[in-house]
Amino acid sequence: MSGGSKDLLIEGAGAVATLAGGLRRGAAQTDAAVLFGGDMCVAAWGGRILAVGRQDDVHRQIEADGHSLDAFERFDARGGLITPGLVDAHTHLLFAGTREVEWQLRARGAGYLEILAAGGGILSTVAATRAASDEELLAGGRHRLGQMLANGTTTVEAKSGYALDVAGELRLLDLTARLGDESPMDVVPTFLGAHAVPAQFRARSDATEAYVADVIGEQLPAVAAQGIARSCDVFCETGVFDEIQSRRILSAAAEAGLALRLHADELAPSGGAELAAELAELGCLSADHLAAPSEQGIAALARVAEAGRPVVATLLPATSWFLGKHHFAPARRFIDAGVPVALATDLNPGTSPTLSLPLVMSIACIEMGLTPAEALAAVTINAAHALGLGGQVGSIEPGMQADLVVWDFATVEQLPYWLGASPIRAVVKRGRPAFERR
Ligand code: NIG
Ligand code: FE
Repeated sequence: MSGGSKDLLIEGAGAVATLAGGLRRGAAQTDAAVLFGGDMCVAAWGGRILAVGRQDDVHRQIEADGHSLDAFERFDARGGLITPGLVDAHTHLLFAGTREVEWQLRARGAGYLEILAAGGGILSTVAATRAASDEELLAGGRHRLGQMLANGTTTVEAKSGYALDVAGELRLLDLTARLGDESPMDVVPTFLGAHAVPAQFRARSDATEAYVADVIGEQLPAVAAQGIARSCDVFCETGVFDEIQSRRILSAAAEAGLALRLHADELAPSGGAELAAELAELGCLSADHLAAPSEQGIAALARVAEAGRPVVATLLPATSWFLGKHHFAPARRFIDAGVPVALATDLNPGTSPTLSLPLVMSIACIEMGLTPAEALAAVTINAAHALGLGGQVGSIEPGMQADLVVWDFATVEQLPYWLGASPIRAVVKRGRPAFERR
């Protein structure tokens, strides 16, 4: 593909997993809406999907719309599978430094929250990130975005949360926006001031309460005025921010016009799933991690999904795996209960240093018992809904953004089967080639 100004016609696909039909939950999660039959085509016009289906039908549709076939650049999929561009709905994209030393401490028995309580963990990344220049942070983010794109990701959420003061959080959000402007990918910024209680508050006896007041009174108004963040997140976990503090922060964020999401029940049942369900009506889009939800939490998420206000359960199995937990979020229970499930990388230097959604899909199939098609819905249309973008990305339907991946094989099952590999021939963003394997 040349990347020139022509619109794009991908021909000769063995199959197209369209994911058409909206958010997936329950039994529908395993329906990837695949079109088979050889000679399948996808046409993009003006950055959006114009038509998808059999070659003859797509050609007819193009002409019926008044376009000439000559106006299209042609790309031969050579019998491969076409899927929507992948959507990574939970990442901590911008940070400095790495944490392999802490990883080895954990391997010898140290706990994740124990290391944080001692001023390490998230706080060591905060120190490195505060000390890094804009250029260093941009270079790291740029490099990671490039690798994510080569693994099929075309839309990525990116959280702040490694500065934990007003100026620093605004700087991370500003740098995130700059990366989004220069990248072909859509980068969706989230404010995560409530990621940990920073060093400057820790000496106080009321440290957590005082920091919560700072997040609500100082950081949130500045973030809302800056206008970059689309949503607000909180690390709701016993020993970090409790359910009451999380509710206060997220209610204030909703008032400030932000969508809501939260790190919920990652390590122990902490009322996170219940809180996410309660906040559905204030615009809570996603409850993330959920490795240790309570029974009531699962039921609460099922109830809001049934009532038509779904909060997507965004599961992060690479994190459980990297933490050596041998225990994973109960994905099957969520699906059986009718809760829509998404999967994301949770890219971060402490608990999930991966840039690959195909790897996350493999872990989800192996450790959580998802089918490959369920996993594909979880990184496309359901992840798009977790970002509030379900009407724009995550499926291949006329009018949706033309974000596409062309794979080397023709079946959805082979995608997570190739463990640790991303056999990708090309990635298209808004109808333009964004990555092509040479
Ligand atoms: O999603 N749990 C909180 N936040 C991240 C980890 C961040 C870090 O350890 O730097 C997570 O796992
Ligand atoms: Fe996270």
